[in-house]
Amino acid sequence: MDQNQILILVLAATAALVTYKLTNFNNPQDVKNAIPIYNTGYKKTPRRGDNSVNTGDVWMRAATSPNSSIEVSDNLQRILEKKYSRFRYCHICEEIIQLINIHIKSNSTFQYFRAPAVVLCNRVSPLAGFDHSICNGIIDTYGPPLLYVADQLVLDPHTTCKKMSFCVPKLITNQQSSKFHSFTQDEPQIEIVDPMSPKMTSTKPSERDKPTETLRVLQISDIHVDKFYKPGSPSNCDIFLCCHEDVNGTEPAGYYGEYNCDLPWWTVDVLVDSIKQIEPPPDFIIYTGDSPPHDVWKQNWKGQLATDRDVIDFLNDRFDGINIYPTLGNHESFPANLYYSPLRDYQKLNKRSLHLWKKLFPLPKDQKTNIKEAAYYTALVKPGLRILSFNTNYGYTFNFYALLNWKNPTLDAQRRFMKKTLTKAKINGEKVIIIGHIPPGDVPNTFDEYGQFYTQLVTNYSDIIVLQLFGHTHRDQYEMILPDPTESITSGVAFIAPSVTTFMGQNPAYRIYHLDPVTFVPVDYDQYYLNITKANADHNPVVEKLYSAKEEYQLKDLSPQSFLELSKRFKSNETLVQRYLRNMYAGSDAMGDCDIGCKHITICETLSSSLTAWLTCVSSLNI
Ligand SMILES: *[C@@H]1O[C@H](CO)[C@@H](O)[C@H](O)[C@H]1NC(C)=O
Ligand SMILES: *[C@@H]1O[C@H](CO)[C@@H](O)[C@H](O)[C@H]1NC(C)=O
Ligand SMILES: *[C@@H]1O[C@H](CO)[C@@H](O)[C@H](O)[C@H]1NC(C)=O
Ligand SMILES: *[C@@H]1O[C@H](CO)[C@@H](O)[C@H](O)[C@H]1NC(C)=O
Ligand SMILES: *[C@@H]1O[C@H](CO)[C@@H](O)[C@H](O)[C@H]1NC(C)=O
Ligand SMILES: *[C@@H]1O[C@H](CO)[C@@H](O)[C@H](O)[C@H]1NC(C)=O
Repeated sequence: MDQNQILILVLAATAALVTYKLTNFNNPQDVKNAIPIYNTGYKKTPRRGDNSVNTGDVWMRAATSPNSSIEVSDNLQRILEKKYSRFRYCHICEEIIQLINIHIKSNSTFQYFRAPAVVLCNRVSPLAGFDHSICNGIIDTYGPPLLYVADQLVLDPHTTCKKMSFCVPKLITNQQSSKFHSFTQDEPQIEIVDPMSPKMTSTKPSERDKPTETLRVLQISDIHVDKFYKPGSPSNCDIFLCCHEDVNGTEPAGYYGEYNCDLPWWTVDVLVDSIKQIEPPPDFIIYTGDSPPHDVWKQNWKGQLATDRDVIDFLNDRFDGINIYPTLGNHESFPANLYYSPLRDYQKLNKRSLHLWKKLFPLPKDQKTNIKEAAYYTALVKPGLRILSFNTNYGYTFNFYALLNWKNPTLDAQRRFMKKTLTKAKINGEKVIIIGHIPPGDVPNTFDEYGQFYTQLVTNYSDIIVLQLFGHTHRDQYEMILPDPTESITSGVAFIAPSVTTFMGQNPAYRIYHLDPVTFVPVDYDQYYLNITKANADHNPVVEKLYSAKEEYQLKDLSPQSFLELSKRFKSNETLVQRYLRNMYAGSDAMGDCDIGCKHITICETLSSSLTAWLTCVSSLNI
């Protein structure tokens, strides 16, 4: 085997493994042992001014600011590595990127890459705690896109691995505004209407009926339905997703679901049925995305699109007569996590989304182009209340196509669209509900630029944004939007609803927000869940209310200020933190331990809508 083959298989296997979060190594040494060429002389390359760094990449350069200077203590580094496994891969990542730089240009065909990559994957997977049976699928799925990206870039290993959050980032202390600039160099100017226009304050009460009942908004997220779920198959297995007939393992799966598995259709049905029994029915529905299951090494475009369609058709059918506003998840596409609108496959996905989504709500004609462009849109729910749905896949570090974002015009188009929509809404006296899949502060899995842009945007329009709804983490969480992480002023709070799927340890759940009928600000929300262990044991699934926010956390109201105070109360009230953690997993029996370091970091997560904000918080922790 020559050096080229070795490096390519390392790249493939490791990148495939880490990309898929198949990261069960406890120790970087384990990986070293599995990959014999590890540490064969990679030297850190010069950072700034180095010709090997793509000079068109303002995005990369921003992250190498010489003023980025806060060092994370060894202890904190260990705590972070414990909580976020991807930080254990820093050196391996750097080495791989370096190897790509040196060798990939010589032969970047997939045929050349495939066989040795599979061999290494087979060798590495047992050490990572996974059965090698997924190797072929993983490499066939992720190899070609990875080569596509690597072939177009010359990357600085250190910067790239930080960018992709494989290394604990450093805090950038000189917050120059240039850091927030768009990825493209020539941002076309958009026409910004004078925000001081007198119309701005004019609400339109005459257009609104004056109801006294609250508006009920149902949020469903991360359904991840698995049509191959097989009761009685192993629910404890050594691959990513269990409860399939063809996996080896132990502990027969219950009928309704298991914490290591995605949900069967019949359990999704139980949840939806229970929603229909709640009176009065929701006024409208937000679906924050992710329909397909997590068997990512077995997937293809056809299957993904079929699941996307089945789920949308199912919701549309069951909630006949109620508008559903969707947003694109990271699993809707193929391979899951990857999305890059300049490529034809993703243009097809956008078209398909348009085709499916237009059945769900009255889509304004002028929004069709936006969905075809990159799956974002806006629509008026009722007079005075608007939805802004945006595509969050650009901000996700598992989407390695995002390394090409600096030359992706659709990202910039979406940003301009978001600003313009909010500006117009403000002039029209409308309130806005922002919906997206991946929350901006899903640290360390979101790019700092995403969080920074989002934080600024929400801060600029905080007076008209009434609700910000996300999913993706599968957990019940909230994230404060803080214009300056060191100060206690808040411009909003983003709610993250727990998933319908049990995958990754939580009970199936959905949520209903109650909005004031006139101002549209949320007054409370009710969190529902299905106790999956109980459902399996009794063979009788009963969906119950888990809690109501105001009562559960003793909140004066659901304002951002109240949630900011809640985060502060967490610091001194163990009972309250325990409550938050239990709810995070929707009352799951599978919730693991959260030690003191974990608790502090969890509190920081509630205070962060960007990587920078999160890092500011964790680096100030005295642990
Ligand atoms: C940090 O940035 C400021 C302003 O850009 C500059 O004047 C200063 O020299 C920088 N500090 C370091 C250590 O590079
Ligand atoms: C690259 O590798 C493939 C598969 O091994 C081979 O068919 C092809 O000739 C190689 N190309 C070059 C330029 O070496
Ligand atoms: C399950 O175990 C059998 C016997 O050890 C083996 O032949 C088969 O490949 C395994 N299947 C998977 C999916 O791991
Ligand atoms: C927010 O407002 C500031 C100050 O007017 C402006 O510089 C910035 O570009 C705006 N950012 C966004 C994302 O709207
Ligand atoms: C902690 O929070 C719980 C639940 O909200 C509350 O009952 C209790 O009084 C609080 N304890 C302190 C010391 O504030
Ligand atoms: C779920 O059911 C199990 C089994 O009946 C029970 O032990 C557990 O406490 C229940 N969880 C909640 C949150 O009620």
